[in-house]
Amino acid sequence: MRRVAIFVLLAGLASSALALVLATAVYAVDSAPAVEQIGDVQTVGPGEVESKPSGLSDLVGRLHPALVHFPIAWLVGLALVDFVGLVLKREEWQRVGIFVLAGTVLSLLPTAATGLLRAAHMPADPAVHALLVTHRTLNFAVAGLILAAFALRLLRRNRLQGSRRIVYLALVFAATGLVLVAADFGGRMVYGPDYLPW
Ligand code: HEM
Repeated sequence: MRRVAIFVLLAGLASSALALVLATAVYAVDSAPAVEQIGDVQTVGPGEVESKPSGLSDLVGRLHPALVHFPIAWLVGLALVDFVGLVLKREEWQRVGIFVLAGTVLSLLPTAATGLLRAAHMPADPAVHALLVTHRTLNFAVAGLILAAFALRLLRRNRLQGSRRIVYLALVFAATGLVLVAADFGGRMVYGPDYLPW
């Protein structure tokens, strides 16, 4: 278990270091404030820019975009750890899996709460509202699937065998796939429905 924990820690550190190196490299290549590169900037009127938060719930809701990465990353990590632990049957990874699952549940709570607060203060645009309803419903489904997986794993005291193992894996993999689809709807709300080609 220690070796797996060290592996997970090192993988996290390595990916952070890689991101830092890439960001520095891109900045070094492209650091000139090239006004000539800004070809197709759109002019944004004052009405299109959000004003200051109108109160505490608006302020807390605006933290949603900063929090959304956590459940996505935890879920993808969980799917990976559970694949190695429960599909490839590596005992050490199974023991780590329960902690990654707990982290996933914890990360979903503030993200869903800030999402609901943010939704209450979103501008009333019917196109955005349709995306919002789908985004919210899919994320509620993700939370439900993960809570069911958590309950199953706790009830079995982290010993998942036979059909229960299959049901548990189906819940985790479905939740991971679904959160990516839900996040895509979230992105469309922010960057526009045609931001990605599908
Ligand atoms: C719990 C899992 C959730 C995840 C992983 C998630 C993910 C995302 C993502 C990736 C974005 C785009 C953010 C950006 O690119 O800046 C977003 C935006 C948004 N999400 Fe969620 N979301 C979750 C739950 C919710 C819930 C339950 C609601 C409630 C309706 C919600 C409401 C919103 C709103 C209103 C936006 C637009 C934010 C803005 O324009 O400032 N989200 N979400």
